Formats: sequence, structure tokens, C-alpha cells
Amino acid sequence: MGDSILSYSSDDSDRKGIVTSKKTVEELSSDIISLRPTCFENYIGQKDTVETLKIAIQAAKMRNEPLEHILLHGPPGLGKTTVSHIIANEMGKNLTVTSGPTLEKGGDLIGILTNLGEGDILFIDEIHRIPKIVEEFLYPAMEDFAVDFIFDKGIHARSHRYRLKQFVLIGATTRVGLLSSPLRDRFGIFRTLDFYSPDQLIVIVKRSAAILNTIVTDDGAKELAERSRGTPRIANRLLKRVRDYSLVKSHGRVTLESVKAALSLEGIDHLGLTSLDRNYLKTILDFYKGGPVGIEAIAATLQEETDTLVDVVEPFLLKIGLVLRTSSGRKTSEKAFDHLKLYP
Ligand SMILES: Nc1ncnc2c1ncn2[C@@H]1O[C@H](COP(=O)(O)OP(=O)(O)OP(=O)(O)O)[C@@H](O)[C@H]1O
Ligand SMILES: [Mg+2]
Repeated sequence: MGDSILSYSSDDSDRKGIVTSKKTVEELSSDIISLRPTCFENYIGQKDTVETLKIAIQAAKMRNEPLEHILLHGPPGLGKTTVSHIIANEMGKNLTVTSGPTLEKGGDLIGILTNLGEGDILFIDEIHRIPKIVEEFLYPAMEDFAVDFIFDKGIHARSHRYRLKQFVLIGATTRVGLLSSPLRDRFGIFRTLDFYSPDQLIVIVKRSAAILNTIVTDDGAKELAERSRGTPRIANRLLKRVRDYSLVKSHGRVTLESVKAALSLEGIDHLGLTSLDRNYLKTILDFYKGGPVGIEAIAATLQEETDTLVDVVEPFLLKIGLVLRTSSGRKTSEKAFDHLKLYP
């Protein structure tokens, strides 16, 4: 089996980490214990998605059947993993976590599938990065709850069908366009998570601050929320940075002043953009005269991975209208020009 496969019960009291990569477990468990909501009541925002899932969960329970397979799409850090944990909690089932790139061989996936119990949940992160040969085992598993083993080769080839328990697959992806259509079509529920509004992020910041035993003023929370690129994970990360700063420099309270000072040290501007975001904009504006320019050219100039730009940098810049995607490439908007004048 792959290296970073986690498996634990959804019941908090007997969470067992059958895992190898220690860092991942520690990171994950500290995140789960402290800031990750464990029920829908504490999961802020994504109203329609939450409603759809609650109905599906309730209906599945009433029929005493497992849920349909669920595909979650959205930029990193918006809460796809969190939702999956909550679903497992609400269904009272075990959750097994793995990711597309770690499933290198068919055997890796089969090993996991044959260990799932009735109604258990398998979460595959970055499902668009699953190798093709592994993906082919997934089709009968999702549709007929079976895997086909092939013994020998050529004319001696025999196949044996192994029955699986009716499990639930939750796939998460930042790029739904890269999923093959046979895979996409096998999901019964498909939801895209949106960026969070500043008001929703204020609630998240305050909740996290309370868990971290940190006092945050209203204007401090508002400023943090506005600079978090619409993303809870970033809000939580920045809160921790500002909390350190405030502890050392201003008696521990997270205030408007300490947020501003700490975030300017981090290179985060008033829109929440990082130096990578600004360099991306600068490249289009200065190098390519505002575009349109292809993403590969921008990546080459910046010496960054195309995937990082497409998955991490662009979604938010598109959302706030600093970049436009046209058929001939990326263009910056007037707003981007004004923004960069402020941060030369
Ligand atoms: N709706 C929410 N309400 C409160 N906190 C949230 C919410 N969504 C996410 N978070 C917080 O943000 C963190 C990141 O969320 P999560 O790990 O679920 O993101 P993700 O979408 O799976 O990202 P990635 O694609 O990078 O794996 C969580 O640890 C949690 O603390
Ligand atoms: Mg995740």
C-alpha cells in the first residue's frame, strides 16, 4: 500500500492512525483536533452544498442504504477534506483517506477497497491525478462494488470477480476538467465549493481564535478575513502568524494594528495577495503588455509550475476580477494595473 494512506474511525475516541508518514499524521491530527469542524453546525458557509449533502445523508439513513458517490471540486483549502470527515461522522462510518498520486498500482487501490466495510467512506484527494491503470479498477468498484482480478496472461488468462462491500467514494479535485468522463459520470453527487465571503471568514477566524485561546478584536478579525483570499485554510494560517506576532509585540491581543503589521511582514497586501500573486500579475503586465498570453509562457517566465498557477494562484485572481481568461490566453484587468501601482 502507498505511503500516505490514513485510516481511522470517524469516532473521535478511537481514532487510530495506521500510517507511515509521521509528519502528515501530526499535521493532520493537530488540524483535526484544533480547527477542523467535525459537524455541519460548525461548518460555515457553502450553504447549498451543505443542504444537498444533509438531504442525501438523511435520505440514505431513512432507506438504510449507503450514500451515492460524491465528487467535490474547488480550489485548495476551501474545505473538501473537512466535508468528507463530517460526512463520515454523520453517517457513523469509517473514513479511509488516500490521494490520487499515491495510488501507483492497481494493487494499492484493491488493497484499500477490500478492507472497506459496508457503507464505509473512501476519500481520494486529487482524484484527477490517479493513474489510468488504477482508474480502470475504480469503474467496476464504483458501479458494481466488485474488482476483477486477472491471473496469468494471454490464452491462459483467467479473471476472478471479487465482491466488495457497498462503500462510498468521495473524490476531491481542484481540476474537474482533467477527470475522464467515465469517472466523472460515476459520481451521483457533484458539488463545487465557492470562495468564502469576508463575513463568513470573520466567523471562521473568531471560532478558530476561541479554540486557540486568543482574543481577537472585531476590526482585527475583519481585516484578517479580508486578507485571506476567500479561503479558510489561509485565514487559519494567517491567524496563527498574527497570534505569534501579537504575543511578542502587543500583549497577545489580535487587533487591527497587529494584523496590519504582521501581514505586511508576511508580504500580504490589502487584497490578501502574496508576492507570487503580484509577480504573476506583473509578468502579464510588464512582460506581455497585459496579455493575452498563454499560461505556459507565464509559468516559464516566472519559473513556476503551471499547475501551481492554475490551481493556487489563478482561481482567486479570476474571482476578484484582476485576471480574465480568454480563448487566446490570460489578460490583466484595469483593476490589476491599479493594484500594482499601489504595490510596485
Ligand atoms: N466551512 C468551514 N468552516 C470552518 N472552517 C473551515 C471550513 N472549511 C475549511 N475550514 C478550515 O480550513 C482548513 C482547510 O480545509 P480542508 O483541509 O478541508 O481544505 P481542502 O478543500 O481539503 O483543501 P485541499 O484541496 O488543499 O486539500 C480546515 O482545517 C478547517 O480548519
Ligand atoms: Mg484536502
